Formats: sequence, structure tokens, C-alpha cells
Amino acid sequence: MTALPYQLVPIVSSDDLKTRLEGIVDDIRALMPTDDLVVIALLKGSFVFLADLIRLLHRHHIAVEVDFMTLASYGEGTESKGVSVVKDIETDIAGRPVLLVDDILDTGRTLKRAASILRERAPLCVKTCVLLDKPERRIEQIRADIVGFTVPNTFVVGYGLDYARRHRELPFIARLEPEPA
Ligand code: IMP
Ligand code: MG
Repeated sequence: MTALPYQLVPIVSSDDLKTRLEGIVDDIRALMPTDDLVVIALLKGSFVFLADLIRLLHRHHIAVEVDFMTLASYGEGTESKGVSVVKDIETDIAGRPVLLVDDILDTGRTLKRAASILRERAPLCVKTCVLLDKPERRIEQIRADIVGFTVPNTFVVGYGLDYARRHRELPFIARLEPEPA
């Protein structure tokens, strides 16, 4: 394997993730009806979190329907920043409780756009759940209903999150530390 030009410094361990996931399930049960629940995950970063979360929901006797949405931001570095839908859900969410799941809440553009698209489709409710929150980076006025961990303003990888398409497979969350020159 080629050496990385940076170090991976663990900031959230597998055990911490496991423990907080239990708390997130409690948060979901306290926040919304779970009968006929639809869980919508934003690809790609949320897939590991989603996989653990839905199996834990099952252990709490909560059945779910899962669907995926892919959004992409455009106009980075320009004045006209926006978010477009690359892949939409196929599920009819009218009248149903929806849990919208993402890996990390950063500027807030992605989650805000996804929630507003879903709310136009007359669901019973839309609640948002992110594994990580980087509040210092927020541009849009949005907060998630459920947050796993608040992290500092630094790039993080693992447990689904990537840097240059790498490190999604790590079973923990790490921050990137540049190698000293
Ligand atoms: P937002 O629209 O700026 O909130 O962007 C959220 C998306 O950017 C997330 O779904 C991630 O895919 C990606 N992202 C933001 N910060 C990080 C990070 O530190 N590591 C990996 N991906 C990130
Ligand atoms: Mg993402």
C-alpha cells in the first residue's frame, strides 16, 4: 500500500459509535412516530451509519422502509452555489413519518435542500438525523433534530465518510492530520 501524505488520527472510536447509536435510537423513538417509518439516506457517505442504524432499529422492533437520495453541489467557489438532485427516492412518502439521514452536517446546503424536497410531498413529518455535526462551518440556517457527535472544524473520514474516495471502510471516525514537511 502506498503511504498517505497525511496521518489518520482517530477522534470517535468504534465503541463510542456503538454506544451513541443506541442513544440515537432512543432519540428517534422520543421524537417521532415509528409506525410505517421511511428512512431516507443521502448517498454516499451515510451508508455505513444507515446500515448499523436500521439493524439497531430492528432490535428495538421498529420496521423500516429504506430509500436513497443523491444530491450534488454545484458552483463551489462561485457566487451561485446550489444543490441538484442526482438520484431521487422511489418511495411514496405521503402521510408517512420520514427520517432523513446524512453522514455530516457541514454548510447545511445538502440537508436543507433534501428536507425541503421531501416536505413538498406531504409526509406526516420529516425529522433529520446526522451522525456528525460541524456547526462552525454552517452557512444555511439549519439544525438537525438528532446529532450523533459534534466535531471540530476539521476534515474527517471513516464510517462511510471519504477523502478523495478513500477511507469509507474505517470502522471509526478519524481526522486528517497533514504530515509535517
Ligand atoms: P453540506 O451540504 O456542506 O452540509 O455538505 C455535507 C456533505 O459534504 C456531507 O454529506 C459529506 O458528504 C460532505 N462532507 C462535509 N464535510 C466532510 C468531512 O469532513 N469529511 C467527509 N465528507 C464531508
Ligand atoms: Mg454526503
